[in-house]
Formats: sequence, structure tokens, C-alpha cells
Amino acid sequence: MKISNNLVSVDQFNNQDVMAFIKLAQAFKNGKTVQLNKQAFAMNLFFEHSTRTHTSFEVAERRLGLDVIPFDPTTSSVTKGESLLDTLKTVQAIGVNLAVIRHPHDQYYLPLVDANLSLSLINAGDGSGQHPSQSLLDMLTIYEEFGHFDGLKIAIVGDLAHSRVARSNMELLTQLGAQVYFGGPEEWYNSDFAQYGEHRSIDDLVGEMDVMMLLRVQHERLAQASDQQFDTAAYHQQYGLTEERAAKMPKHAIIMHPAPVNRGVELASDLVEAPQSRIFQQMTNGVYIRMAMIANVLVHQGLLTAEQLEA
Ligand code: CP
Repeated sequence: MKISNNLVSVDQFNNQDVMAFIKLAQAFKNGKTVQLNKQAFAMNLFFEHSTRTHTSFEVAERRLGLDVIPFDPTTSSVTKGESLLDTLKTVQAIGVNLAVIRHPHDQYYLPLVDANLSLSLINAGDGSGQHPSQSLLDMLTIYEEFGHFDGLKIAIVGDLAHSRVARSNMELLTQLGAQVYFGGPEEWYNSDFAQYGEHRSIDDLVGEMDVMMLLRVQHERLAQASDQQFDTAAYHQQYGLTEERAAKMPKHAIIMHPAPVNRGVELASDLVEAPQSRIFQQMTNGVYIRMAMIANVLVHQGLLTAEQLEA
């Protein structure tokens, strides 16, 4: 496994790296344990709301033996104007080994990586940019289902324009040999998506896809005027995976969603728990893929050995 100090973007991963993360995550899922060679500390700095990513990073850190130091941006010295870089230099000086950061600004991590900090950095999501841990957990979930990626037909449907999940997944899935398609409002299909796959109506996609990956409409990132005009029922009818559409999916096909789900908008509520849904499996897999990512940077920190990551 290629060892890194910072895991911030799927652009860092070739296919071999993705498979190494998947295999290590599967080993953790099957009960593999590792032992840190000394006490070490993690801090999760979430400047945007989160349930899944924050909780599963913390569970992953604790399972690997890290002590987790609380961080609340509303009571930290960020409110007094301290920069993110100075915050990281501060917690590094105090002894934090790993910072997991979610931030609303695209590529917030670039100056932090350029600063060559000694603590490790994992990106838990930047604005509409990247969500590498979500993408790797999605790859693990697809691999568990199909055992490969080559030639799989995967539709990413919904709020493409604002989605870091769409950006991360279209890059990795294409690189791994899957055929990516897009659905949802055409105005959210940016011109740079065309290199990864064509846009089609959900009615054209649903009967042909191996994976229907739905995305949440991100009301918090829509302009206020367009959010006020947003009609959830009309969206569901035109772009959503309704029960009628789901009935047309091939028998082997699965439904994925990074969640949180707007039930009844991008996805009919009952489909969240339907037999073809892998949504809760994705959440479970998030813990193991995050353990694999953290274990990787802990080798760079000298807290684990590379041999401990081998099968
Ligand atoms: N999928 C995802 O990132 O969920 P949270 O925003 O709850 O972390």
C-alpha cells in the first residue's frame, strides 16, 4: 500500500491504491486489529454539519486506538479570527497526530498540504469539491456486490452541480473501468462532466443500470431564490427514483445514496429500506474504509508499521 501523510482527494489514488484500501477495509471488517506503538491523538474539525462522516471517523479512530480530542468550531479560537493553518499548527504543537477536516470551501486543504505539516490530514469533504472517504466507501460497497468494476453501468442522479460525491465518484469509477451516466436536472450537469459520461433522463437509465446512485438536493447550497421556488413533488416525479421506476431496475441492480436522504424527493421513502438498497451497508462500510485511510497515515506518522497493514 502506498503510504501518504495527507489523504485529501481521489486524484491521489490509482486503481492499485483503491484496491489496497478496499482489501484493508475488508480485513478490518473481518476482525483485523492493529496496535499503535505509543499513545496518539486525533482531532475532527468539522466546519460543516455531518452525522455519518463525523461519527464513523470517530468510531474508526477509537477502534484503531487513537484518543479523540473534541473540537467545536463555534467555541474554538477560529471565532477570534485564527486561520485554519494556524489552528492546525497549534494542535500539532500540542501533540495531535491526525486532523480530519470538513470545510465549506473547495480545496481548503491546498495551503495546508503546501505547509508540509507534520500532523496528518484527511479531507472529510470540501464544499462542492472532493469527498474521498465517501468515494472509497462507495467503491467498497460496489466491490462487495459485484466483485469488480469493469463495464458496470452506474448512474449518478440528482444534484450533480453541488455534489462532492458526484465529482469524486465519477473520477474513480471511470478510472476503475465502470461506465458512468448522469441524470437529474440538465442545468446541474456541468460541461466538465461530459468527459465522464452522458446525461440521460432517469426513465432511460433505470432499466439498464447495475447501480442507481441517487444524490440529495443540497438546499443549503442552492441560491435562496431558486430554493424558495423548489417544488419537491415535481422534482420527485420528473427526476426521482419512484417506486414505479425502481420496479423497472434489473433484478441484480442496487440502489445507493451517500445520505442524508430527502425521503420522497430524490428517492421514494420506502426504497431506503428496500431489498435492493445498500444505503445502510454504505454507512457500515464507512467505518472500515476510514479505518483503512487512518491506518495508512498512521504508518506515515510512525505509529504503525507497513507490515501491520498487510493481510
Ligand atoms: N454522506 C455524508 O457525508 O453524510 P454526512 O454529511 O452526515 O457526513
